[in-house]
Amino acid sequence: MAPIDLLIGRPTPRLQAADKLAVASQKVLLKPEKSDWALTYGPDHGEDDIRDHVGAWLTQKYKSASSPITRDRVIITNGASGALIAILQKFTDPLYTRRMFLVEPTYFLALQSFLDAGLGPKMQGVPEDDEGIDLEFLQARIDEEERKHADNTPGVDVPSTKLESHGYRKLYKYALYVVPTLSNPSGKTMSLHHRKALVELARKYDILLIADDVYDFLAWPADDTIPHKDLELPPRLIDIDRQTPGISEWGNTVSNGSFSKLAAPGLRAGWCEAAPNFIYDLSTTGATHSGGCQSQYTSYLLDDMLVSGVLEDHVQNTLIPIYRKRYNALVDAIKTYLYPLGIKISTGNPYEIRAKDDKDSDVRTQLAGGFFLYIDYPYDEAFPTAADVIRIGRDEFSLRIASGELFTVKGDPESLKRAHVTFNRGTRLCWAWNEEQVLVEAIQRLAKTIERAKE
Ligand SMILES: Cc1ncc(COP(=O)(O)O)c(C=O)c1O
Repeated sequence: MAPIDLLIGRPTPRLQAADKLAVASQKVLLKPEKSDWALTYGPDHGEDDIRDHVGAWLTQKYKSASSPITRDRVIITNGASGALIAILQKFTDPLYTRRMFLVEPTYFLALQSFLDAGLGPKMQGVPEDDEGIDLEFLQARIDEEERKHADNTPGVDVPSTKLESHGYRKLYKYALYVVPTLSNPSGKTMSLHHRKALVELARKYDILLIADDVYDFLAWPADDTIPHKDLELPPRLIDIDRQTPGISEWGNTVSNGSFSKLAAPGLRAGWCEAAPNFIYDLSTTGATHSGGCQSQYTSYLLDDMLVSGVLEDHVQNTLIPIYRKRYNALVDAIKTYLYPLGIKISTGNPYEIRAKDDKDSDVRTQLAGGFFLYIDYPYDEAFPTAADVIRIGRDEFSLRIASGELFTVKGDPESLKRAHVTFNRGTRLCWAWNEEQVLVEAIQRLAKTIERAKE
């Protein structure tokens, strides 16, 4: 039996735009007026032209952006992971920052970055609810922390060692990490109500909202009869922060974007959008200070693809149609083989969005997309444990299944306890890596695994 990996969350190699990148490389490398700059140390925030092009592209993609996204709001990064580390280094401090909130289930590979930033003891999971984040839970944890500071509890107010004179002009009291749209791992999209409420809380308590917006452009209608073109995207947290009167000079949000999901992960390139002050300070972290833009060469390739329309064509006409077919095949297989076992797709409150039907009329539809969906096992004593499902899947059906425990917030001992009664009773499924027929086979094997575990 050929092994099937349901944990892996990256694109199939054939989708990595190698041919298009080869053309872009030729165009960049064979022209000295481009290659001279592409191959040397770049400006800390990336080339101004490239920032302009990314800003214009984002303005066009996010209809909710209140005004054009200008270059001073954009920095070219070495991908969302590298940017996350830089954001934490520059704007948080393990002494000053009171809590580092992470929406759980969380993108597990990001966890190490928070630990590396020294925030381990401050890490606090915040459960998702049906609208994307449990705001009451978050408020209660903030209140708890604020009380300690109001009471002058010994040891809580520790002076920061990140001094303004050393380039730390702004440290946030709190930070919160979230994937608001088409989340990894849950697949949920946060409601508009919760987005607005989160921005309001962020302003009130000096929270930096770090939004990994990496799946936004891989969006399509859940209803397969509606075309994916002209789909309106949910407003990002940063769009809401910008549109709501009273934004501070630093803002309370940063949108972390990536070309990994749109072209190829190995390029190590992305962008951040935030208030100009924030972007300027982000460009002054150690690695850029010494080495300049962290993806100087690959940002030239991506810029060529962006300006020529090749990138958008790849996303709209290659990636989305293929991922959409796989998603539909996966959902159908789940309904056929897993629903009879009491398993359900964990949707939360589906996000409704405006799209155009095939006659170009406005319609409302549910949003789907990204790389992942989550399935929930039934709350039934007789249902096998997640650990048994993983073991039997691996040993008897050559199936690698993600453990829900993976998505808990390390550093927060309560996170695992919460997981045991929620997302550890289920697993994440991904359609980015496996082809349609492999996904169907995987779900058939998962159903057999569960039947076997019940014996
Ligand atoms: C939510 C999330 N953020 C960040 C990343 C990594 O992005 P990058 O390749 O740009 O570092 C991933 C990749 O799986 C992801 O799912």
